[in-house]
Amino acid sequence: MAHPRCDETIAWTALGGHFEAHGRELDLREAFARDADRAAAFSLQAPEVFADLSKNLWDDSTRRLLVELAEAVQLPTRRDAMLAGEPINTTEGRAVLHTALRAPRGAGPFSDEVHEVLDRVLAFAERIRDTASSGITDIVNIGIGGSDLGPRMAVPALDAHSHPGLRLHFVSNVDGHDIAPVLRRLNPATTLFIIASKTFTTQETMANAGVARAWFLAKGGTDTRKHFVGVTTNLKAAAEFGITETFGFWDWVGGRYSLWSAIGLPLAIAIGADHFRAFLAGAHAMDQHFAQAPLRENLPVQLGLLDVWYRNFHHFSSRSVAPYHQGLKRFPAYLQQLEMESNGKRVDTDGRALRLGTSPVVWGEPGTNGQHAYFQMLHQGTDVIPVEFIAVKTPTHDHAELHTKALANCLAQSQALMLGKTAAEAATESAPTASATLDRTVLSRHRSFPGNRPSTTLVLEALTPRALGALIALYEHRVFTSATVWGINAFDQWGVELGKALCNQLLPRFGSGDLSGLDGSTAALLQRLRA
Ligand code: F6P
Repeated sequence: MAHPRCDETIAWTALGGHFEAHGRELDLREAFARDADRAAAFSLQAPEVFADLSKNLWDDSTRRLLVELAEAVQLPTRRDAMLAGEPINTTEGRAVLHTALRAPRGAGPFSDEVHEVLDRVLAFAERIRDTASSGITDIVNIGIGGSDLGPRMAVPALDAHSHPGLRLHFVSNVDGHDIAPVLRRLNPATTLFIIASKTFTTQETMANAGVARAWFLAKGGTDTRKHFVGVTTNLKAAAEFGITETFGFWDWVGGRYSLWSAIGLPLAIAIGADHFRAFLAGAHAMDQHFAQAPLRENLPVQLGLLDVWYRNFHHFSSRSVAPYHQGLKRFPAYLQQLEMESNGKRVDTDGRALRLGTSPVVWGEPGTNGQHAYFQMLHQGTDVIPVEFIAVKTPTHDHAELHTKALANCLAQSQALMLGKTAAEAATESAPTASATLDRTVLSRHRSFPGNRPSTTLVLEALTPRALGALIALYEHRVFTSATVWGINAFDQWGVELGKALCNQLLPRFGSGDLSGLDGSTAALLQRLRA
């Protein structure tokens, strides 16, 4: 049965009318002045994550119509189909079951297989963590995309819970400037390499794995079986590479949804079995919330619907994520793959060209660094870019004064985006660094802020393994929600194939050979870059 096109639903038309009548002009300052309960009315508590959605450009009618839209595109039925393991990734004929990876033993689909591998992964992690007996001090994860971004993000996020005697390194780029400085500092006798690749065919990972193995042997390493392990669905290819200890997963785990599988091994080694189980439990709690909470109180659903509202009615094409926790420094990069590889699509599940925008550009940096780089544009640029602030109440360090400053900055930025400053207000203020000769009216125009710029603030009590698990699962389900409204398959990634194929055609031409058949630009660049 064809997917109902969201832009052909009654709710979509109603949202368009509502946007013209009220949405475009909604003023947040007035909305707060009118409604003393606005903050409470637009806040939600999900497992481990509190969300203040009140500084967004919507009102109760917007929210009601968005929920009607979700119902019109059968979001609950489609969510249940995913959770039940139906093959919703139609272009690859696969189920989408990352939620099964964090379901308690005996609870989800494929539970026996999932828990058998999980137990093995965690037992192995604990053996490595026993450094006196394992002799390992450095772990190098070689993988890219979904086989890199998750552990690379989560390991620093949970640094406070990590083994103090182990150093984790991540190599992803096929550019040798990535692996070379890592190897330079290592001793083969105390290093464990994890070769992580769902397919075990990815050019970058296979090339770096080969370099690591050659380095290991050249530097006197003796037992590759002890120092190289594999994480893959392609056990045969891992064996052909010479790896004997392999942790498998399944084709129903998408690369960018695989942190919960054996791909999480670097994280499990860093934080240990108990913390890793808590991480899975946090994600499972969010899964339950997504599966059971009414749409209006369902945080991933509400965030996904807001994304649709902003992308398709306000036509905002970008969203910025600002975690006010240095541990989450890699979170925006992680979200880039999760959101943009999932929802960067231009046809729907039935292959019909979409008539609306899909994935926004997702980007960001941890606060407060971003404030001193691009926040200028967020406050005074010509484009409106919704910002997502992530605040963590309790730090895992002893510098309370620094933490208070970080949190104050977080709140001040969302306040400033919303409140702005009129030219008249700016004119009454003294500005010590301002030119004394420039006309005052001109100066106050430079110094005014439009305000009314939307933001969401997510609050965690602490960045624990459980909270991080819940936070990531929240974003996964949010992406599913907007994908379902748009009617797209969030679980394939055909868009990365063309570049890979052309790269394979170009590689042999770097040595020598004629340049015929190439476009003029590529031929000239190749000529210039040839050794
Ligand atoms: O970039 C495309 C992609 O297929 C991602 O979806 C995936 O996460 C990444 O490559 C790595 O793939 P693999 O784990 O198979 O090496």
